[in-house]
Order: sequence, then C-alpha cells, then structure tokens
Amino acid sequence: MIGAKLKIALLYDVWNEDPVAAAAREDAPSAPKARKKNKKTKKVEKTDREEIFEALQRLGHEPSYFELDGRPTSLHSLSRCDADLIFNLTESFDGDDTKEMNVVAYVDLLGLRYTGAGPHSILLAQDKAIAKKIFAFHGIKTPFFATAYRGRIEHAHDISFPLIVKPAWEDGSIGIDAGSVVKNIKEMMERVQYIQDEFDSPALIEEYIEGREIYAGILGSYETAQVLPLVELDLSRLPEGTPKIASYDVKFEKNTEVYKLTKSQVAEDLNEETVKQLSDTALAAYRALKLRDYGRIDMRLAPNGDVYVIEANPNPWLASRQEFAMAGRASGRSYTELIGEIVELAMSRYPSAGLANAAATH
Ligand SMILES: Nc1ncnc2c1ncn2[C@@H]1O[C@H](COP(=O)(O)OP(=O)(O)O)[C@@H](O)[C@H]1O
Ligand SMILES: [Mg+2]
Repeated sequence: MIGAKLKIALLYDVWNEDPVAAAAREDAPSAPKARKKNKKTKKVEKTDREEIFEALQRLGHEPSYFELDGRPTSLHSLSRCDADLIFNLTESFDGDDTKEMNVVAYVDLLGLRYTGAGPHSILLAQDKAIAKKIFAFHGIKTPFFATAYRGRIEHAHDISFPLIVKPAWEDGSIGIDAGSVVKNIKEMMERVQYIQDEFDSPALIEEYIEGREIYAGILGSYETAQVLPLVELDLSRLPEGTPKIASYDVKFEKNTEVYKLTKSQVAEDLNEETVKQLSDTALAAYRALKLRDYGRIDMRLAPNGDVYVIEANPNPWLASRQEFAMAGRASGRSYTELIGEIVELAMSRYPSAGLANAAATH
C-alpha cells in the first residue's frame, strides 16, 4: 500500500444555519431536529480540510473534497463516490451531531474505505454516560455522575458539589461555559433545565475534578496504538471566579479574554510515573471504546495524582495548530507524516485487491 497513489476524498459536513433558507429547501426532511439549535459558530474557521488536502498532495496522493450538505442528494452522490479512501472529517449531518455515527455507518454500508472510528465507537464515545459506564467496567477512573432528562433520573451515583453539568451528547464544548460548574442545588437544577431547553439533551451531572487538563493523542489501532507526547491546556491564568474549564470560548472564541489567557503546550514537567499513569489510562480508554487510527483522550490530573478520564474523542480535530497535531510534532512527525500515517493505518484495515484507482508510483 505504501507508495501507492490513492484517490482520497475528504468528506466533511456543512449545514445551512439560516432557518428560513433551510425551510425553503424543497427536499428538507420534515422531521424536527431538536438538537440542531445552538450550533451557530461551531468551528466555522475550520481549516483542517485545506491543511489535510495539501498534506495529501505532498504525499503524492490525489485528494478531492466531498461535501455533505445535509440533503439526501449529497448522500446519493456519496454512494457513487469512486475514491480509494474517504478521509472522514464529518462531525454531524445537517448540523445534528448525534447523526455523526449514521454518516459513518452509511459510508461503511457503501463498502467505502474510510479513516478513523467505526460507527459503534462513535456511538460509545458520543454518549458520555455509556462511555463512563464502560470505563468503570475496565477500572478506568472517571468522575462519578448522574444523568437527568425531563425530570427522570437515569442513573445517579452519590455525588457531591461542586459539580459540572453538561449535555450528555455534545462535543466541542457546546453548552459548556462559566455557568456549567455549580455549587448548590438551585444552580444545578437551573443548569439541567438549560441543557434540556437548549439542546433537548439529557444533562450529565459530574463531580467537578479540580486539576490539570491533559490531552493524550493516540495513533494506531488496538494493539498497535501508541500514546503521543501529552499536551496540557493551561487554564491557570483564567481570571479569579471563572471556573478552570475548557469552555466554548476558551476553545473557539478567539476574541475573548479567556481564549487569549489559555494555551495548549506539550506537558514537559510531568514526572515519569505520572506520564506513565496518564498514558496507560488514555490507552485503556481508547481500547475500551474500540477507537482506531487516531483519537484523543481528555483527562484531569488531580493534585493528589489521581487520573480521571473526562471523555474520549474519536476522530479529533486535525488542524495543525490543535493538540493532536501538536502531539504529533512532539513525537517527531511532521504534519504531513502524521496525515500519511493515518491514511496508512486506515488502508491497512482493508484488503488491497480492488484498488481501482491506485497506481504504484515507483
Ligand atoms: N468532571 C469534570 N471535572 C472538571 N472539568 C471538567 C469535567 N468535565 C468537563 N470538564 C471541563 O469541561 C471541558 C469540556 O468537557 P468535555 O466533557 O470534554 O466536553 P466536550 O465533549 O464538549 O469537549 C473539559 O475539557 C474540562 O475542562
Ligand atoms: Mg473534550
């Protein structure tokens, strides 16, 4: 496979944020899309696909873009896609990110080769309550929690304040802001209500873990998976009174003070034992959810040395400035090499016969 020139389609999702225009589409599905709200500015500045496109060109492949615009017609054209490999950058369908797994399942059903996690892993990781239950089975520490939806408690540990309340099904820090960390029943109930009203999602109520925020990028699948150098999001400079969390503004809103005060960098001051504990925990979480090719495990390192998994991210953001690529560089891989390795990891899953478009370049 190595050295073969591949036709690689970069699959990504866009959606129309204007409800009037969306309603005017002749073939807009009529079912309500409760979870679509509040996606407004999510990652609009995404440049990852251009960067990956260029990296694939440098590797000698033949990249192209394939846009899923949320309409059935884009699914129909995908069924006729003749690429050797889909580089999967989708995060939602028509703005509904609970449909990410459906897109992957569809690509899978079409028999197309694709990078990253399969539909089952996306489901397991996206439903944070399920992921936490699986972590517990494997003895991986994760904050105690409860879930509440429309007045029903689905599960409840004996938890104590402070707590963090977040949507059970979102990512990209959607619904996470300074009000997420709650100190009493009143604040908690208001926040649960907010999550329900804004996202029509169960609320995940977790014990708030004070500590350092550490990300482990992982490359590989199953037994070959390896942890890249750990990256820390330094939240220590956030103003007094602002909870030290990676809120939506911290992650994406470049013009906010909290964005400017926080910074990710390779964590170089951790001792060997702590690095091992963080890396082993991340690897166990990655394997427990059957992630593959590449992923990122978000953790908290408590002052007493305990390591908690906050969440697992299949197909994490690959922009060159983001934590995963940063970890790749720290491991000695250039951005291009990192992208090339993801392609090779994905391709190694499939028999090479039937590679209609691949021609040896040497
Ligand atoms: N239990 C927790 N304790 C402390 N901080 C948390 C906890 N859960 C989430 N956070 C903070 O909120 C951020 C976003 O939460 P996360 O579950 O990773 O959501 P997302 O999927 O949107 O990234 C985390 O990166 C962390 O800073
Ligand atoms: Mg996260």
